[in-house]
Amino acid sequence: MRSKIIIANWKLNGNWSFNEEFASALSKGLKEIDLKDRQIVICPPNVYLQQLNGLLLEKSIFLGGQDLSDELSGAYTGEISGAMLKDFGCRYVLVGHSERRARHFETTDMVVRKAVNAISAGITPVICIGETLEQRQKGLMKDVLSDQIQALVVGMTDQIDSIVLAYEPLWAIGTGETATVEEAQEVHTWLRSEFEKVNPAIAEKLPIIYGGSVKAGNAAELLQVADIDGLLVGGASLVPHEFLSICLAGL
Ligand code: PGA
Repeated sequence: MRSKIIIANWKLNGNWSFNEEFASALSKGLKEIDLKDRQIVICPPNVYLQQLNGLLLEKSIFLGGQDLSDELSGAYTGEISGAMLKDFGCRYVLVGHSERRARHFETTDMVVRKAVNAISAGITPVICIGETLEQRQKGLMKDVLSDQIQALVVGMTDQIDSIVLAYEPLWAIGTGETATVEEAQEVHTWLRSEFEKVNPAIAEKLPIIYGGSVKAGNAAELLQVADIDGLLVGGASLVPHEFLSICLAGL
């Protein structure tokens, strides 16, 4: 049985006092709750990792980065390495989020290099894939996702069993538009079957989580789907009581 992972992606949000209030509300809300192996991950901006590391003391809450460099060290101004994230207590890191692919021109090769760097630093990469609305409407969804998966399978070879895959249809990110449970289920089941062709044992274990306008109102039904192993939450993860409901959804 795969356990569920709920990830908060704060993006460019948060500040010292908000973080304190959020951490206290979350820790209080999760105290003494049996999360049944469910992991909660908070991905704040890097500068707040140390603050949150000191505040999130519940044993089921982990920290994650939002990105890491595809280089290990050297003259790369502004970059953060996997080893640095590890120093600050990160267990996960998002890789290849569509906002980074679009705004920072991250190529599939870079995404693979970042994921490999994360694993060598002892951090689990949460690799984001997804199609645009135009690609979906033109019937190209499976081709696009297949290309993204293929690059991972080829580039990561035996490390592919150390990733989390996040399916985030781009048309559902920050739009309020969520894939229906049926749509998400269909894609997740198909994604797992693609990995089965490569290695059935890995496919069975691979956590595939869903992201795109997840909120308290749809979290429980999404988490009920057998092939949805968790949620990647943007906007709703900034509202403490809403994120708490998502963490507890369907338990
Ligand atoms: P959203 O963002 O929940 O605001 O749609 C999800 C994401 O970008 O990871």
